[in-house]
Amino acid sequence: MGEWQGPLEGLEVNPAFWKDRRVFVTGHTGFKGSWLCLWLKKLGAKVTGYALEPATSPSLFAAAHVSDGIYSIIGDVRNREGLAKAMLEAQPEVVIHMAAQALVRYSYQHPVETYEVNVMGVVHLLEAVRECASVHSVLVVTSDKCYENRERNAGYCEDEAMGGFDPYSNSKGCAELVVSAYRQSFFTADQRVAVATARAGNVIGGGDWSKDRLIPDMVRAFTAGESVSIRNPDAVRPWQHVFEALHGYLLLLEKMAENTQAFAQGWNFGPEDAGAQDVAWIVKHFVAGWGDADWNIIRDAEELHEAHTLRLNCNKARRELNWRPVVDLELALKWIADWYCGYYAKEDVVLLSQQQLEEFQKMVAI
Ligand SMILES: NC(=O)c1ccc[n+]([C@@H]2O[C@H](COP(=O)([O-])OP(=O)(O)OC[C@H]3O[C@@H](n4cnc5c(N)ncnc54)[C@H](O)[C@@H]3O)[C@@H](O)[C@H]2O)c1
Repeated sequence: MGEWQGPLEGLEVNPAFWKDRRVFVTGHTGFKGSWLCLWLKKLGAKVTGYALEPATSPSLFAAAHVSDGIYSIIGDVRNREGLAKAMLEAQPEVVIHMAAQALVRYSYQHPVETYEVNVMGVVHLLEAVRECASVHSVLVVTSDKCYENRERNAGYCEDEAMGGFDPYSNSKGCAELVVSAYRQSFFTADQRVAVATARAGNVIGGGDWSKDRLIPDMVRAFTAGESVSIRNPDAVRPWQHVFEALHGYLLLLEKMAENTQAFAQGWNFGPEDAGAQDVAWIVKHFVAGWGDADWNIIRDAEELHEAHTLRLNCNKARRELNWRPVVDLELALKWIADWYCGYYAKEDVVLLSQQQLEEFQKMVAI
């Protein structure tokens, strides 16, 4: 990672591509989906969202009024007919599938639900695409956890084996295999639709209140005036700001429209080596940005298995999409602390979110 030193041109998302583009986003009520919709709205896209009600309160979806200016459908990806009908009505050109049961710990308690949503949800989505003639590009968001984790230091490349120890990770590996089968069986000969997958690492940003995620756990504890308990302080994760991954998705979709099948592959979007930090490092830096806050480590003998080391090799996205991370982790953590502080200080969160997106866009334009 970090070896390719090509020119910086081409990093910007092309507003002309997205203006008036009909985009169908599943999971638009979630953390990443909400940020994506805010960005797509800013670019002038015509967005239809399909997801369950936000799972948390507060949520970025409600706080940043994500549903304003898009067509928001509350629906379940396990409902094949409902999803197909919603897509047919929207007649999208681009489909971005983010709806998922996205939590590792929850997947241990609810493995069946996790597979139903994360695997059959992808099958239902691709069936809906087959029936909807307007679609030309599909991006299925999986995870860096889709790979068979060999607990090694070198980053995983896109052509490595799928796997996943826990039900969540494994369901994402399965989702990758489903896409691969559909691509070969139905979409390659057809040429009408290009289907790619995106494997990003631990994504962080303002507005996430999910359970059992590091930043939301800290925010919940600190706003309640409590110390946060940290499991797995030594676990190294490829942290990156949510804008970095979304930026990669948008660039990839632009390329897919240019050359339908050439980009219909799996793509890694991870941070520079400096972004692969252990949990304790993130906590220390976030606590420093927050101010008055405290943390402690808990080691539970019954602790569920979580992958220890996980890095992605992102040379392909650098080389072929001219994508690269631009926000260093300390700045990302500052933006995140600013976002939550603004939210709890009752600032205008729509404006604050737009300002952070604009700041990011300026950085990719340099
Ligand atoms: N956040 C991360 O660090 C991260 C890292 C790698 C991959 N991902 C992937 O990115 C995607 C978005 O993640 P997120 O962090 O925004 O998760 P999130 O939990 O905040 O959002 C999940 C979204 O999926 C929707 N959803 C869940 N079950 C559904 C169902 N049965 N039918 C319809 N919609 C349903 C929810 O309503 C929500 O809109 C997921 O596919 C996730 O696996 C996230």
